[in-house]
Amino acid sequence: MNHQRVLVLDFGGQYNQLIARRVRELGVYCDLMPSEMSLEKIRQYDPIGIIFTGGPNSVYEKDSPKIDAGVFALGIPVLGICYGCQLTAHLLGGTVQSATTSEYGKAEVTYKKSPLTEGMPQSAVCWMSHTDRITKLPDGFQKIAESANCPYAAFGDEKRGIYGVQFHPEVNHTQYGMKILENFLYKVCGAKGDWTMSNFVANKVRELREKIGDKKVLCAMSGGVDSAVAATLIHKAVGDNLTCVFVDHGLLRKYEAEEVMTVFRDGLKMNLIKADAGEIFLKKLEGVTEPETKRKIIGEEFIRAFEVEAKKIGKVDFLVQGTIYPDVIESGKGKSAVIKSHHNVGGLPSVVDFKEIIEPLRDLFKDEVRKVGFELGLPRSVVMRQPFPGPGLAIRIMGEVTREKLETLRDSDYILRDEIAKAGLDDKIWQYFTVITNSKTVGVQGDFRTYENVVAIRAVTSLDAMTADWARIPYEVLETISNRIVNEVKHVNRIVYDITSKPPATIEWE
Ligand code: XMP
Repeated sequence: MNHQRVLVLDFGGQYNQLIARRVRELGVYCDLMPSEMSLEKIRQYDPIGIIFTGGPNSVYEKDSPKIDAGVFALGIPVLGICYGCQLTAHLLGGTVQSATTSEYGKAEVTYKKSPLTEGMPQSAVCWMSHTDRITKLPDGFQKIAESANCPYAAFGDEKRGIYGVQFHPEVNHTQYGMKILENFLYKVCGAKGDWTMSNFVANKVRELREKIGDKKVLCAMSGGVDSAVAATLIHKAVGDNLTCVFVDHGLLRKYEAEEVMTVFRDGLKMNLIKADAGEIFLKKLEGVTEPETKRKIIGEEFIRAFEVEAKKIGKVDFLVQGTIYPDVIESGKGKSAVIKSHHNVGGLPSVVDFKEIIEPLRDLFKDEVRKVGFELGLPRSVVMRQPFPGPGLAIRIMGEVTREKLETLRDSDYILRDEIAKAGLDDKIWQYFTVITNSKTVGVQGDFRTYENVVAIRAVTSLDAMTADWARIPYEVLETISNRIVNEVKHVNRIVYDITSKPPATIEWE
């Protein structure tokens, strides 16, 4: 693709993907790459600017991640953030020392004039998170910001276009943080802002049309945002040469399966086959209570149901996968322990007869996938759909999955979603759903004793589902939700609210 590119080099900090997302939001394409990238590779990548991310190390530790100081002689502007800023100072002959006090959280920073700080007020609040600090700048550098605890909160060499900021411009807590990133991209690197989702769609459709021609494409549609956007993009490129298979495992939310058919088959006129496998899944799940066993059964049955439909279609040339950018980023971090075996409709290649995989969204972050969805005219309910686990409602019913519990879960979840939307909170909460606990309690409804299910509400805020906090839903909204569920949904007499963060809990209950 012929757009400008920025290279974000990953030194292991927690906000690294966020930096890359911010750069993209500002209309400039970027890739997040491991910091070990060689000078030769950097040169070949041909970036208009390089950003060094933060990281947990100290530059003077022997094994801390470094980079060849030759990077500063490439004539490409550099912005070092936090650890990246200390590394810049260290490699160019400045001094970085451990401070007696760490600086975490908000700090008032005052700015001096420079291309990086153009349009900034004289002082603003920044988000700091560091122990080391720079005590002497390298030759040729000027101080451009300071805070009470940090004499060189930002510095730069205007001639070479090399800058460092000790704070985190990418986080929301830093006022005017986006302005700093924008200045770096547009005033220092000469960005044109050629990364827009309408350009992406136009280029991608052309590229897909050339690649696919009149060959046949198969896509597993799950109802999720990624597969929906991937399929719509391909449909725009090659129309009926795309066939989509939607396995309805009977574990979707209320009206979800119907919506998939209405939007994609009836609305967009896609060649969409629905496999009604609900009965088979329920049968297979009979008597199963162990979460991992449930997940395995659903994963296997899903593939089987897809395979039955795929076999009817016969050989295809391409199989679509909804892979997105965070799935392909090679981060410096080691592999983490498997907490839950994830089921994803992506993992199908071994059972389908096809020549090649296509991944039209592999360059995009989730928020970009959503923008592309809007660009393609998909409805808000599809584009803004919350993340939903592959095994569906089965892992939100503790214990055995039964028809009756599925109905109770669907109805309670529908009310929750309805009230969250009415309260205008649907954009603010990452995920919200109900769970059927395997507890029954005594209640009194209409003068009668009841012995019914406890339904839990789970609602979390998060950036990437790796960590999450429980959402502070206002009491009045919780009250309405609770009243409506116990009054309108059968077999429920008590509602509880899950107030656990992740970690130690996970977002889903199983
Ligand atoms: P946990 O429960 O592990 O969930 O905190 C993290 C995120 O992943 C979603 N999730 C899944 N997504 N297949 C998926 O595609 C799965 O099997 C699966 N299990 C959990 C969960 O909804 C949350 O967004």
